[in-house]
Amino acid sequence: MKMTDLPVVEGMIRLCTDGWQQGWHERNGGNVTYRLSEEETEAARQRLTHLPGAWMPLGESLPEVGGVWFLATGSGKYFRNVALDPEDALCLVEINEAGDSYRLRWGLKNGGRPTSELAAHLLNHSVRYMATGGACRVMYHAHPAHIVALTFLEELTDKTISRALWQSETEAPMVFPGGVGVVGCMVPGSMDLARASAEKMKEYDAVVWAHHGLFTSGPDYDTAFGLMHTVEKAAQVRVLVTNAGGAKQQISDSEIRAIAEGCGVQIREAFLEEGESGEELESLFEKWCRKLRITPQWDVKLELVRDPAWRKTGDFKIDPDDRKAILMLNVANPRQENMEEVIVHELMHIKLYPLDQVCESLIENSFEEDSKAYRFACQTFFEDLEVTVEELTKCFLLEGGRNKAFSYGRCAGRKSFDELYKGLKPIE
Ligand code: 13P
Ligand code: ZN
Repeated sequence: MKMTDLPVVEGMIRLCTDGWQQGWHERNGGNVTYRLSEEETEAARQRLTHLPGAWMPLGESLPEVGGVWFLATGSGKYFRNVALDPEDALCLVEINEAGDSYRLRWGLKNGGRPTSELAAHLLNHSVRYMATGGACRVMYHAHPAHIVALTFLEELTDKTISRALWQSETEAPMVFPGGVGVVGCMVPGSMDLARASAEKMKEYDAVVWAHHGLFTSGPDYDTAFGLMHTVEKAAQVRVLVTNAGGAKQQISDSEIRAIAEGCGVQIREAFLEEGESGEELESLFEKWCRKLRITPQWDVKLELVRDPAWRKTGDFKIDPDDRKAILMLNVANPRQENMEEVIVHELMHIKLYPLDQVCESLIENSFEEDSKAYRFACQTFFEDLEVTVEELTKCFLLEGGRNKAFSYGRCAGRKSFDELYKGLKPIE
């Protein structure tokens, strides 16, 4: 059996051919690497026909990939030629135990060296290996025209580019709900580009290289190729629409959330506008009234408070006889808190209102008003009520929240342990 019959080699040949046919690999544009498993390395070892090449410095120390074998495209090799002569265009690279040198074990039969982006690939492999618990095996770099075009049209931030892509095609939030990272225009093949890219790969499985191309990763060739394809398709739609004179409408943030919710993936909420728009809050409010079964027992209404002098984040007015309530939300400073958490918290108070009333009347009827016992009972009851309401809020938010991030507003205002102990005399 030849090396080219191994599934990992066949898979790479197919990816290169498909990428070429998509038009993503002009000349020698783009490169791929695959991290071999122990079994795949053993299978490759048995097909070796040449002595290993000399050890070459990597220019970086990467102990995480020490001793690992990678299949890679060669530098300057044309993707259109990979299928015609894989042994010329591809190579098997062994990394030494220290992770600072490599040597050729197969391929590049007419000479040459692995891709000039090898450092970026290996750094990204180390990072994604950690981020995915060892599942990630493929790094794929290509030059798809529309994603490159998008880096001339949009602000170069992770948020703007990710949101622009999500807004352009419903598939986008489903396939990359975590968004994409973006790095600025940098010298191809440079260590700076490799490091900037790896920094982004800690959080993302795809990184846009401004004015250059896209880097994707995945556990197999299909996933890395599919991610490249989906990001590029969304960018293509964006650019087509821009060319046609601009969008009359686009996929809204609430539609993006609904798509993610519908297919059970966690969208990177920080890239969407927070729910401060009336429409967004109204939809969250209705959702939680239904989920917590507040309606139809209660008639509840949402009121947005736009007075910056109002100190509270949320509160409610209640008429228990008519079972009517108005939930008030502070939208003057909405970014301080997760507004969904505030909505659930306040609705939970309504939910617990009957119990709340029983405890209050028990206290009123058992203790003399303003007595020590009365004040103690009131304080204990209200503190416990708040703790219970917040605990239930967290549980429900984790189960069904669009934004599962807890607000740490009040916590941030507390003194740190260091501050608390500052000024205290040490115990002799
Ligand atoms: P290589 O031919 O060295 O892989 O370079 C192609 C490329 O796309 C550089 O970013
Ligand atoms: Zn490139």
